[in-house]
Amino acid sequence: MNILIIGATSAIARSISRLYAVKNAKIFLVARDEPPLQEAAIDLEVRGAKAVGAVLYDAENTSDHSSVINSAVEFLGSIDIALICHGNLPNQEECQANYEKAEAAITVNGLSVISLCTEIVNNLRKERKGTLAIITSVAGERGRQPNFIYGAAKSMVSTYLQGLRGSLLNENIHIIDIRPGLVDSPMTAQLEKGLLWSSPEAIAPTIVKGIGKKKHVIYAPFYWRFIMLAIHMIPEVIFKRIKI
Ligand SMILES: NC(=O)c1ccc[n+]([C@@H]2O[C@H](COP(=O)([O-])OP(=O)(O)OC[C@H]3O[C@@H](n4cnc5c(N)ncnc54)[C@H](OP(=O)(O)O)[C@@H]3O)[C@@H](O)[C@H]2O)c1
Repeated sequence: MNILIIGATSAIARSISRLYAVKNAKIFLVARDEPPLQEAAIDLEVRGAKAVGAVLYDAENTSDHSSVINSAVEFLGSIDIALICHGNLPNQEECQANYEKAEAAITVNGLSVISLCTEIVNNLRKERKGTLAIITSVAGERGRQPNFIYGAAKSMVSTYLQGLRGSLLNENIHIIDIRPGLVDSPMTAQLEKGLLWSSPEAIAPTIVKGIGKKKHVIYAPFYWRFIMLAIHMIPEVIFKRIKI
């Protein structure tokens, strides 16, 4: 099994990649910071990966994305599963007050992902097979006051993936939208934790299993599917008054 993981030093990506390592997968890691990238690569080798390759990138530098994917294909031979994990949680108030901040947040959480998907799908089409899985978020399903710029970017990606999935229906290429709930990771370090929070280790098996089953949308943990159903049912006249 040949796996490409982009945003490979994210806490969620690291938990997922460890599960592929123990299955003896060949893994290519892409991340922006060299020391944690090297550390992640060694960790996966120790855990049983067949071989681990790595390259640096900056998600916002879309002109480099083609060469990042070419490096992955050169190392892996062909891609069975590509997973995109990078993202950041912008300061909502700053984004509302300053368009440049909003644009930066939408670029990293939205446009950079679409750029990478374009390059990956162009490659998978040549092989006429493969799975592309993207971490979006439950935050993309409804615009909440504290994080709707982040949510708008994630929502853009989810809508894009939905259309992409249909466009590849006859090409043996599977598109998976992974929507975690609240996960305790460096991205959310500043937020107060409560009952609904999960660890990256706890959600990784759900994600790997869902990718294996080629599900369209994976909620992680699974019960976020029901939480989001309930959230969708709240009338806008009430929802607009909710501050959390
Ligand atoms: N944590 C949650 O509650 C939660 C919920 C739903 C969805 N998600 C999504 O899950 C994914 C993984 O997040 P996480 O929770 O695992 O957080 P994390 O550990 O903070 O990971 C975020 C990763 O994104 C990378 N990144 C940010 N900007 C980048 C850029 N311009 N170029 C390249 N890499 C960049 C970071 O790299 P550096 O380490 O170099 O900064 C880091 O590896 C994200 O897409 C996030 O939106 C998270």
